[in-house]
Amino acid sequence: MLLFLREIVFRAFLGTSSSAQIVAHPTLDVEAVVGSPIASGHACLSAEERELGVALVEFGGEVTNVSVYAAGMLLGLVTIPLGSGDITDAIASAFGIRRFQAERLKCVHGSAIPSPADHREMIPVNAPGEETNGPAARHADDKNRIPRAELISVISTQLAAWVDEVGKALKGLGFTGQRGQLVVLTGGGAELAGLADFAQGALGKPVRLGRPQYLKGLAEAHSTPGFSTLSGLVLYAAADPIDIRAIGPSYQPIVRYKGFGLVNRLYQAMREYF
Ligand SMILES: Nc1ncnc2c1ncn2[C@@H]1O[C@H](COP(=O)(O)OP(=O)(O)OP(=O)(O)O)[C@@H](O)[C@H]1O
Ligand SMILES: [Mg+2]
Repeated sequence: MLLFLREIVFRAFLGTSSSAQIVAHPTLDVEAVVGSPIASGHACLSAEERELGVALVEFGGEVTNVSVYAAGMLLGLVTIPLGSGDITDAIASAFGIRRFQAERLKCVHGSAIPSPADHREMIPVNAPGEETNGPAARHADDKNRIPRAELISVISTQLAAWVDEVGKALKGLGFTGQRGQLVVLTGGGAELAGLADFAQGALGKPVRLGRPQYLKGLAEAHSTPGFSTLSGLVLYAAADPIDIRAIGPSYQPIVRYKGFGLVNRLYQAMREYF
């Protein structure tokens, strides 16, 4: 069985165990360990994009993984310790509300792009049917509603810091100039409304949302950026690639020519050349 690293085993069976504990768990027959950026790349990048050069920005809950592909290979990876959860925390702090309320505000009413109507729109902090006897949010009106403009402003401040770090990571990975063009944005955090447009403007590069390719049996609601790692793991397992831990350094074919072999090789090279 391929270890569905963290995403399945971690969450479903083992609660808060570390990745190393999961791999060593006696009830699991781990066949391969796959980093989530590799899996996400499988799910939402085409072979042509990987060939031509593409950057994958996976905006997770706690971290953002920036990986660069070219010539069909993963060339580099940087992990930024900023995730969409930081936006939730900033909303909770700014309005003095609970995290689950901040999470709902972000997902349901949040946006990466402000609109002129935001100042007129008041949004309820409590979900419909939720208990309303807790303390009111900061800046809220008598019905515990906050101006959407203030929510968007908190999100924008966090996103500005995030995109700055993403830009630095891309530069550090050499994703600049002619070869550093397309950026694919994925991960649950990429589901924030308007994020691709915002990132495109801030990074000055075309940005598209990376959704996992269609998998038979996968519900349509799961073909969203938040499910790209999971889908990628399934695709990775189905492709059955070589596990580098199993083959070791001896797998790499190294041919040393000497004596007649060397003369022969030179002769063949000359013939091929002329
Ligand atoms: N519609 C949405 N709008 C905004 N944010 C969203 C939306 N849906 C999910 N998110 C955010 O996506 C994040 C989770 O993304 P994801 O599942 O990719 O992270 P993760 O893999 O658990 O975290 P990490 O990769 O950092 O360990 C959460 O912070 C959540 O708030
Ligand atoms: Mg993740």
